[in-house]
Amino acid sequence: MNGLLKFITCGSVDDGKSTLIGHMLYDAKLIYTDQEKALELESKVGSCEGGLDYSLLLDGLMAEREQGITIDVAYRYFTTERRSFIVADTPGHEEYTRNMAVGASFAELAVILVDAGKGILPQTRRHARICRFMGIRDFIFALNKMDLIHYNKNIFLKIEKDIKKLAVDLELDHITVIPVSATEGDNVTVRSDKMPWYQGKTLLSCLEETVVSGTGQEGLEQVLSGTGQEGLEQVLSGAGQEGLEQTVSSGQTASAQPEPGFVMPVQRVCRPNHSFRGFQGQIEAGRVAVGDQLTILPSGERAEVSGVLVGDKEAAAAGTGQPVTLTLDREVDVSRGCVLMKEVSLHCGTMFTAMLLWMDDAALVSGRNFYLKLGTRILPATILQIKYQVDIHSGEHLADAALHKNEIGCCDVLVSDKVVFAEFRKYKSLGSFILIDRVTNMTSACGVIEHPLRRAETVTWQTMDVTREFRAGQMNQKPMTIWFTGLSGSGKSTLANALEKRLSTSGKHTMLLDGDNIRLGLNRNLGFTEKDRVENIRRIAEVSRLMNDAGLIVLTSFISPYRSDRDNAGEIIGREDFIEIYVSTPLEECERRDVKGLYKRARQGEIPNFTGISSPYEEPLDPQLRIDTSRHSLEACVDIILEELKKSGRI
Ligand code: ADX
Repeated sequence: MNGLLKFITCGSVDDGKSTLIGHMLYDAKLIYTDQEKALELESKVGSCEGGLDYSLLLDGLMAEREQGITIDVAYRYFTTERRSFIVADTPGHEEYTRNMAVGASFAELAVILVDAGKGILPQTRRHARICRFMGIRDFIFALNKMDLIHYNKNIFLKIEKDIKKLAVDLELDHITVIPVSATEGDNVTVRSDKMPWYQGKTLLSCLEETVVSGTGQEGLEQVLSGTGQEGLEQVLSGAGQEGLEQTVSSGQTASAQPEPGFVMPVQRVCRPNHSFRGFQGQIEAGRVAVGDQLTILPSGERAEVSGVLVGDKEAAAAGTGQPVTLTLDREVDVSRGCVLMKEVSLHCGTMFTAMLLWMDDAALVSGRNFYLKLGTRILPATILQIKYQVDIHSGEHLADAALHKNEIGCCDVLVSDKVVFAEFRKYKSLGSFILIDRVTNMTSACGVIEHPLRRAETVTWQTMDVTREFRAGQMNQKPMTIWFTGLSGSGKSTLANALEKRLSTSGKHTMLLDGDNIRLGLNRNLGFTEKDRVENIRRIAEVSRLMNDAGLIVLTSFISPYRSDRDNAGEIIGREDFIEIYVSTPLEECERRDVKGLYKRARQGEIPNFTGISSPYEEPLDPQLRIDTSRHSLEACVDIILEELKKSGRI
C-alpha cells in the first residue's frame, strides 16, 4: 500500500469539483449507508433533477449547500485498498484565495478541474500558480464535463496542449491530464467505454499510484493551518506554544529522492527531571542516528546525538516527517526556535527576499511592519521594499508600489532579530512564514523565502563608551518622545510648541520635530501617498530615537494617520519612552479653523490624499492621553500633559 496522499481540488465555480470527489467516494464505496440515504433524499429536492447530486457529500457546510458554492476548506479523509487520502476541497472564487492558499499549503498534489466546454480559464492559471507558489509539484488536470462535449477527442487534445504549455510557463514538474465526467463517472474510478481513445489511468488510480516529488509539506501548512489564520492571538494563546505541534505526518509518503543531511527545527525542550533534557520536533528532512554530530543554530555549537526517541520508544535512527525527541551528549544552548542540523546549508540572518501572497483587504505598501511567524518563532518584521508584483494570470513582473488582496509579489523582508531560515524550495518549514497584522492580529500574508540578503550582515552595531544613560544623566532628565498625533489643524503643533516652552523654562533639554518643517528639509522628497507617509513616520521615529540617545526630550507633531506606523514608531523609539498623545479635536472643528486653507482646497479636489477628506485617519486605540483642543484653553491642555508626565514619573 502506498503512503498517505494529501491533495487539493481546485476549480472555478461550476467546474464540478465537489461532484467529482463525491462521485469517487461513492463509487469506491467510501461513504456510510446513512450518508447514502441522505444523499438520495436530498438529491430529490436538490438541483440535480432526480439524479444523485454527489457534490452534497463534499459540501459539508450548510451555507455552501444553500448557495451551491464551497466557501471554506473542507477536508475529507478516505482510504482505498491501495492508499489513504486527505483531500482539501477549496472554494473557486477569487475572493476566497486565502482559503485556497490554506488548502494548497497542506497538499502534495493538486487536482485542477477544467471545464472541457470552456478550456483553460484565467481562474485555472491562478489556481495552478497559487498551488505552485505553495510548493506543490504534482498536478492532475481533470478535464471535466466530457459528456457535454460528446466525449470529443479533438477538443480534449487541444485543451491538453494548452495545459502542457501552461505547465511549461509555470514550471510544473509533473502533470497528468485525464478526460472525465464527474456526473457520469467516466474515468473517475473506472475506465470509460465512451472514450476508447484515452489509454491513460482513471483519476482514482492516478491518485493511488502517483509518487509525489516533494517531501514534507510541513512548512506553510504548520504556520497557516496551525494558526487557523487568526494570526497572533491563536499563535500566542494556542496550545501549540507548549505542545509538540505535530501535523498530519507525511512521513510515509512515497518520496522521489531521499533527503541528504538532517534538519529539525526544535519545537519544545522537554525536561521532565534534572537528568533528562530532550529536544522535540518533527524531522524536516533527512535522517538522524545515535552518534551523529549535529550543529545547533543559531549558536553554531556542536554536539553528538546520544539518544533518539520516537514516541516513548528508543530508536537507533529516525527520518523525514517523524516527530522525535533527541538527546545530546553535552550541555548546549538549545531552545524553542533553534534548529538542529547536519550537512545542509541553512541561513542565519535578518534579511531575505521572499514571494508574498497578500491576503489582507488593505493593500501592502513598502515600509510596513508586521509580526512574522517562521516555524516556531514570532518576531517583528518590516517589508523593506516591494520589488515587483507578479501578474497572476500571465506571470509578468509588474512594477507596482503596492500589493493588493490576492496578489503575489516579490519583497525584501527585514526581521528584528537573527533567525534560522532556508530557501523554500529546499526546506519548506524553514522557508515559509506568515505575516500577522500588528493591530488586528489577522494573518495578512503568507510568504516563501527565495534567497537571503547579505547586506544586513556586513553592518554591525558599534558600542560607544559615552552611553545614552550618561548623556541623559548629564542633562539630569529622562529622555522620551512625546508623540502628538491628530488631524491637520487639530492643534498638535501649537500644543507641542507651548509644551516645549514650559518644559524648557523648567530646565529641560528639548527638541521639537514638526511635520511641516521636517517636510521642508529631511523629508522634502516625500509626498502624501500611503507609502510616503510610512517612510515619513519611520524617519521621524529614527531621528527621535537618536535625539533620545543624545539625552533630549523630543516632541513630535505629525498627523501620523496610520496605527501600524505609530506602533512601529513606538517599537523604534522603545515602548517605555514613547508617549502617544492623541489630539482628538473633531474634523468639523479642524475644518472650521482651516488655518492654512488646505481643507477648503482639499474639498475642491485640489489636494489629493488629504487626511480626513480623501485619506483615512486611524484613531489611536490606547493613547497615553487624549486631548480635544476645542474643549480646553491652550494652557489647560499643557497642564493636563504636564500632570500626566509627572504622574507617570517621566519628569
Ligand atoms: S503625515 O501624514 O505624513 O504624518 P505630516 O504631519 O508630515 O503628515 O504633514 C502634514 C502637514 O502637511 C499638514 O499639516 C498640512 O499642512 C500639510 N499637507 C499637505 N498636503 C497634505 C495632505 N494631502 N494630507 C495631509 N496634510 C497635508
